Amino acid sequence: MKLFDRLTRCAKENPQRIVLPEGSEPRTLTAADRIIADDIAKIILIGDPEEIYHMANDMNLTHIKEAEIVNPCDEKVIDKYAPLLYELRKTKGITEEEARLTTANPLYLGCLMVKAGDADGQVAGAMNTTGNVLRAAFQVIKTQPGISVVSGAFLMLLPEGLNYGTDGILVFADCAVVPDPSAPELAQIAISAAQTARDIAGIEPRVAILSFSTKGSARHDRVDKVIEATRIAHEMNPDLILDGELQSDAAIVPSVCNKKAPNSPLNGRANVLVFPSLEVGNIAYKLVQRLGNVEAVGPVLQGLAAPVNDLSRGCYPEDIYKTIIMTCNQAIGIKSNK
Ligand SMILES: CC(C)(COP(=O)(O)OP(=O)(O)OC[C@H]1O[C@@H](n2cnc3c(N)ncnc32)[C@H](O)[C@@H]1OP(=O)(O)O)[C@@H](O)C(=O)NCCC(=O)NCCS
Repeated sequence: MKLFDRLTRCAKENPQRIVLPEGSEPRTLTAADRIIADDIAKIILIGDPEEIYHMANDMNLTHIKEAEIVNPCDEKVIDKYAPLLYELRKTKGITEEEARLTTANPLYLGCLMVKAGDADGQVAGAMNTTGNVLRAAFQVIKTQPGISVVSGAFLMLLPEGLNYGTDGILVFADCAVVPDPSAPELAQIAISAAQTARDIAGIEPRVAILSFSTKGSARHDRVDKVIEATRIAHEMNPDLILDGELQSDAAIVPSVCNKKAPNSPLNGRANVLVFPSLEVGNIAYKLVQRLGNVEAVGPVLQGLAAPVNDLSRGCYPEDIYKTIIMTCNQAIGIKSNK
């Protein structure tokens, strides 16, 4: 079954509540209407109800009336969520008045709804920068237990005939967030990427932490970091099939693995590739996408206690639709792991 067919079916079977802070943005409204029409998730739009209904009417979006609409200017809404923000941020110096003002920011309000258990995940970024979307999530939703760093994975959907990964999928991480992870952070990225492989790709993770060295073939501080990250990741999850430090060919080509790392539990069949820095991860996913004619789905933000996903400001309604579906599946996965 194709990736999005499976994700859609799973989302329909376990309906989640997804909050869209950019509630009066036309592409967002179009995607939300389709999600409701297809019975995939419950949609919460943040925005002025009158403006949203007016736009939906003009755009002939007949299902938007079934969405819940939360007005960020409504004092009752601010009264409900501002105390939570104040509690979460008071040690960082926020005042009660500042908490009220920040709660009226839709990106924060959406995260507060998730934190309060009134929504299961958030999708934003059609109008806001990545930094703003992430900052609200970092400050309000925070990370999963045992994880202190949020990272971004891409699902690389390989064309037929390219026999790598599992079911034609490789998961790449981190390609979006952490410029220069320490060894413990790299270990966390590996653990989070394994969860993304399970929750979104639907594959049993086989994780390689990559380097320019395979099992001591080169010596450098950067190699040591990957060796240490591998050790920590093993400690964090001893049951995970995981290995490092490996070069990328030893990770995904069985014959190369046999020669360079004959004892690797991956046997050259890794399906999750963890890069030692954001430079490598970001460059690698873009090159593979272009040179290999590979579809790159993401970034999927991983490591948060509840899912928030960021859109590109150039996104299409179809991208928002798919991101909502992925977010539903992450929410289902995170809850089932609790
Ligand atoms: C999100 C981002 C804006 C944070 O930058 P910042 O505001 O300078 O970050 P700060 O260091 O002030 O951190 C703000 C909060 O986020 C937390 N944080 C920062 N990076 C984090 C991460 N990767 N995971 C978890 N929390 C993180 C900090 O701990 C801090 O929390 P606190 O306020 O409770 O102490 C920055 O990491 C960013 O812009 N990332 C996006 C990178 C990007 O654009 N990538 C390309 C997209 S594909």
